[in-house]
Amino acid sequence: MSTKTILITGGAGFIGSHVVRRFVVQYPDYNIVNLDVLTYAGNLENLRDIEGKPNYTFIKADIRNQSEIVKILHEYRISDIIHLAAESHVDRSIANPNAFVETNVMGTVFLMNAFKDLKTSGVFFHISTDEVYGSLGETGYFTESTAYDPRSPYSASKASSDHFVRAYGNSYGLNFLISNCSNNYGPNQFPEKLIPLVINNIQYRKALPIYGDGQYTRDWLYVEDHAEAIDVIFHKGKHGETYNIGGDNELKNIELVRAICAEMDVRLSREKGSSEELITYVKDRPGHDRRYAIDSSKLKNELGWKPQHDFSEGIKLTIDWYLENSRWLAHVTSGEYQTYYEEQYLKR
Ligand code: NAD
Ligand code: TYD
Repeated sequence: MSTKTILITGGAGFIGSHVVRRFVVQYPDYNIVNLDVLTYAGNLENLRDIEGKPNYTFIKADIRNQSEIVKILHEYRISDIIHLAAESHVDRSIANPNAFVETNVMGTVFLMNAFKDLKTSGVFFHISTDEVYGSLGETGYFTESTAYDPRSPYSASKASSDHFVRAYGNSYGLNFLISNCSNNYGPNQFPEKLIPLVINNIQYRKALPIYGDGQYTRDWLYVEDHAEAIDVIFHKGKHGETYNIGGDNELKNIELVRAICAEMDVRLSREKGSSEELITYVKDRPGHDRRYAIDSSKLKNELGWKPQHDFSEGIKLTIDWYLENSRWLAHVTSGEYQTYYEEQYLKR
């Protein structure tokens, strides 16, 4: 196995933490450098178990700072980049689009500027979303050749960064890979997103806000299956190609929330149906995309990946994790986790 020094950006976030752990543990010959600025969504508690590993380094840095990024890539002799750092929440993008342009577009461009100047033979792997393809009706699937049609500031920023990555491939010969994945769920997801929000609110008997009519559809993938897909694409993907990643698991939001309610009644030994009473229909998200559904047959047929967890298993693992990690949830909802970096890293 060849030695690589892989920069993983956004490694303290939800998906990034699973990717960092997978690469650190499964590839002891690789050096893994996790670069993250630790926004509200970045939490080093997600990686406590691998902190002391000899092939793991954490750097607090901002991808919006071009000169700092150039210095870090040179200093660590980075051979490859897996780029996950982003502002990731649609509702926040509607409230404050600027941060999404700065991090998701400018930050990606700054990283590629620094990476192309290193002139390594490695790859820039850009982690993107199915939301770039827009919104589907009742039928059909997104394929790698579906035209881009982003409809929220978040998806517009991700679409823009995807275009820049391809343009850098074309104009500068940058080796790149892009993956576009459907909605993820699992441990470590910040509780502003639907699934952890619902689990958290049921625990504390708080209202479960369902936007609009609740008939919006998403294709849910367990986060470790996404991390595995990233591993497979990184090692076996053809440079310059795009791969869609999906869970073959479409659910309407209301069906999803009812399934979680039923499971939570059992777990919390509450009367059957009591969690469902918390469901509250609220004002819709402006410009809400109706349906996302991914066709991942290219990834399955060409690279041999398929999801390992079906939804009934994945959601049980997720609920278990949130119930067993109420301290994590309490820290995250109070913002207390943000002192962890100072305690663990600055005082060393
Ligand atoms: P997240 O919000 O949980 O984590 C993002 C991480 O990026 C955080 O640790 C944050 O501190 C870091 N970050 C943000 N701005 C930064 C900056 N300027 N400099 C350095 N670090 C910064 O997000 P996530 O859900 O884990 O998503 C990770 C990636 O996967 C994103 O690029 C997202 O677009 C993509 N994606 C997410 C999903 C999903 O369902 N969550 C699905 C498909 C693709
Ligand atoms: P979210 O987890 O924000 O992911 P995305 O918007 O990127 O798909 O939302 C998933 C779906 O759940 C989406 O259709 C919006 C809906 N939703 C609610 O109905 N209520 C909520 O409180 C949240 C956060 C989301």
